[in-house]
Amino acid sequence: MLPARDNEILTRVAAGTPMGDLLRRYWHPVAASAQMKDTPVMEVRVLGEDMVLYRDGSGTLGLIDRYCAHRRVNLAYGIPEKNGLRCMYHGWLYDETGQCIEQPFEETVRPEARFKDKIKMAGYPVQELGGLIWAYLGPDPAPLLPRWDLLVEPNVFREVASSFIPCNWLQTMENAMDGSHLEHLHWTYGKYVLERMGVPPEEAANRVRGFSRKHIKLGFDVFDHGIVKRRVLEGGSEEEEDWQVGHPMVFPNTMRMGNASRSEFQIRVPVDDENTVQWYVLVHRPGIDVPPQEQTPYFEVPMFDDEGGYIIDFATGQDMMTWVTQGSILDRSKESLGESDRGIILYRRLLMEQMAINEDGGDPMNVIRDPAGNSYIELPQERNKYHIGDAYRRLLQGSWSRYSPNREVVAELYMQGAAERGA
Ligand code: FES
Ligand SMILES: [Fe+2]
Repeated sequence: MLPARDNEILTRVAAGTPMGDLLRRYWHPVAASAQMKDTPVMEVRVLGEDMVLYRDGSGTLGLIDRYCAHRRVNLAYGIPEKNGLRCMYHGWLYDETGQCIEQPFEETVRPEARFKDKIKMAGYPVQELGGLIWAYLGPDPAPLLPRWDLLVEPNVFREVASSFIPCNWLQTMENAMDGSHLEHLHWTYGKYVLERMGVPPEEAANRVRGFSRKHIKLGFDVFDHGIVKRRVLEGGSEEEEDWQVGHPMVFPNTMRMGNASRSEFQIRVPVDDENTVQWYVLVHRPGIDVPPQEQTPYFEVPMFDDEGGYIIDFATGQDMMTWVTQGSILDRSKESLGESDRGIILYRRLLMEQMAINEDGGDPMNVIRDPAGNSYIELPQERNKYHIGDAYRRLLQGSWSRYSPNREVVAELYMQGAAERGA
């Protein structure tokens, strides 16, 4: 159990709070590049701040305050022009720094006042990488946007997706430090859910068998970029990749998992204290030359069905259901942690340490400033885990990838790869 005061410190994300200020030291995804193609101006809420994201006629991306400094209308209805975003109400024009650069009526009747020079809203740096648009809401100078392997790896088929999750970000991340839930939530419960849906028991078991092995040992190690999670499963040994390599939580808010043919990030970005967007970056390596992608495709992964019920017949849906049922902000003063929760305790300690470093004026973990170390940051990852790849079509039923509009294209690439290897 955690003192209520520590729970507040760990969960609150507004500017001026210890965690809010720590999270502001990092670049966060705020949209998919593909979304901006269809919608040149969109509302974004991140870390409790309401903004609009737009691309102007010169191609510049801007992320500025959502409400016009004049009469406070919503600039999501504004007009992107050659050099900025124009408010639709009285035509004030803003650039990507949030500076007002035109005020039609003021300039007509009292140009000498230069009123526009006094109007400056918030405007944050924005960059595109790996099919996502990333924003930095913290103090200057902004660090580099980390070039994590999955964002820049060549010759892959990349997809991005998102889920809106109505609960605090920390319970979504603590699940990344929770190894032993797999054989319960995704195997026992997964089978139970499928059988209740009418799937014959044998078939239900086959669909989720990848999660069936019991955990007998868990290991957690802090490394340069976060915490590596390792495990020994029943019937396995410490010689296996599960224990020797493992996979990481990338500090502060990213889960990395997968295998040699398919790897993913789940990046959990606080919308505010009680809501989170989970961004997915999925990389497929079919083992053949992959046709170049002009645009990284984007899709949504729903967590509720049309009746408002949780969608729990796939692993990520089961995870999301558990996070939301913990409450909008989990009351950690009432929990009872055991041996299975050592990773969660270590992660909370790391967050506390990094908040202290930030408050003392230092750069916390993964604030990267040296371009030489940022061309390609490789992360540890098991290669053989789950043996997906060639069995991609079977995998689809149990994965969030089933919502991908590209699933057949990807399945075909895996089949071609398998054929070329003579498998
Ligand atoms: S409210 Fe935006 S210009 Fe008047
Ligand atoms: Fe899970």
